[in-house]
Amino acid sequence: MKTINVDINNVLQGVSRAEIDNLAPKAAEGLDKVLNGTGEGNDFLGWVNLPSETTEALLDEIVECADALRASCDTVVAIGIGGSYLGAKAVIEALSDSFAPYRPAAEGNPKVIFAGQNIGEDYLYELQDYLSDKRFGIIVISKSGTTTEPAIAFRLLKEQLERQMGVDEARKRIVAITDARRGALRTLATEEGYKTFVIADNVGGRFSVLTPVGLLPIAVAGFDIRALIDGAVEMEKLTSTADDSNPAYLYAATRNALYAAGKKIEILVNYNPKLHYFGEWWKQLYGESEGKDHKGIFPAAVDFSTDLHSMGQWIQDGERTIFETVISVMEQQHEKLIPSDEANLDGLNYIAGKHVDEVNKMAELGTRIAHVDGGVPNILITLPALREKYLGQLIYFFEKACGISGYMIDVNPFNQPGVEDYKRNMFALLAKPGYEKETEAIRARL
Ligand code: PA5
Repeated sequence: MKTINVDINNVLQGVSRAEIDNLAPKAAEGLDKVLNGTGEGNDFLGWVNLPSETTEALLDEIVECADALRASCDTVVAIGIGGSYLGAKAVIEALSDSFAPYRPAAEGNPKVIFAGQNIGEDYLYELQDYLSDKRFGIIVISKSGTTTEPAIAFRLLKEQLERQMGVDEARKRIVAITDARRGALRTLATEEGYKTFVIADNVGGRFSVLTPVGLLPIAVAGFDIRALIDGAVEMEKLTSTADDSNPAYLYAATRNALYAAGKKIEILVNYNPKLHYFGEWWKQLYGESEGKDHKGIFPAAVDFSTDLHSMGQWIQDGERTIFETVISVMEQQHEKLIPSDEANLDGLNYIAGKHVDEVNKMAELGTRIAHVDGGVPNILITLPALREKYLGQLIYFFEKACGISGYMIDVNPFNQPGVEDYKRNMFALLAKPGYEKETEAIRARL
């Protein structure tokens, strides 16, 4: 069985093996809390056994719903923010043709685009303008069913869809993914009679990519959600022991040893532009899970070699508070060789005949050696290829490691109390009913 692999050999001048091993009891305790629900936030552990407990019936229902949208729509807008958006976006980008947005939609293979992940007036104006001649559908995703950003986007697009298609046809093209009972979106979906999927109470947003939240948009985009789940099931099996054969345990222990040694920032590095949004998903997963009680490694992400020409200087030579976790993709989907040129005016003949990826891998290796020499420890994660199965492995691996790691720094990895502060101020500033006192208080500060 091919799987992702975690290699920590290049961290060992940043921390010693003994320093990592000293954290073994803490890592084992973190794993126990995740597996046995003995820690804080244990009512949000539904994601732990979710891959192996995903039923064929649920997958069939998701595929059937996706097929209906694929047959009737040339564009499907997935509305959601944070955990209700980033997982699907990451997987779709990783698996898609890089130039798909610029190609016309093929019959039966709609474009999946995203909304509700910002409050950009121009974004929404331009989106509605783009959709004005499209046969579009909507997947609206919000676990709470009350989040402002997706609610605004949905209000606009629902009205547009009803105007363009008629109310009855619009109803057939809207799918809501939300809580089973609570929230405005659940009420609205019930009133309108939309097809719905439930986000279980015990699965938090940023751990929900392997539920209908991620699976439906991914299936609409034409990708194999069964293979994604199969990969996650494989990783679920590989991540239950408190030893180095468990890659999530090893990664959690290593990054916490680095943190204890003063490496406060982790940079997730990819050498494949298709993984840009994977970095965004990962940042949310770790940032929202660990950044609490004035603790937590700051998660950053870069795309190399692109960002070697922007962030490379800082990483090589700036403050030594960083370490890198590199995702290296072994096999490419396509072949492209560098041609020979008789005149050789650009001086590139020394690499003529080589695969572009061979050059990329040398950029990766050269960078790793330079960064390690420069005091930047480097965890290497190899991914056999950008395919559904390996992405499923990688997603589950990072989720499991995140739970262990959060418990290792004694925070509840499954809440996000800090996110509420901006919302309270925004609602107060907008004079939302129920926020009268806060409105008065915040206006007095302006
Ligand atoms: O991880 C989380 O819980 C958050 O990022 C949520 O996913 C995000 O705030 C969106 O929330 P909701 O799905 O309730 O609209």
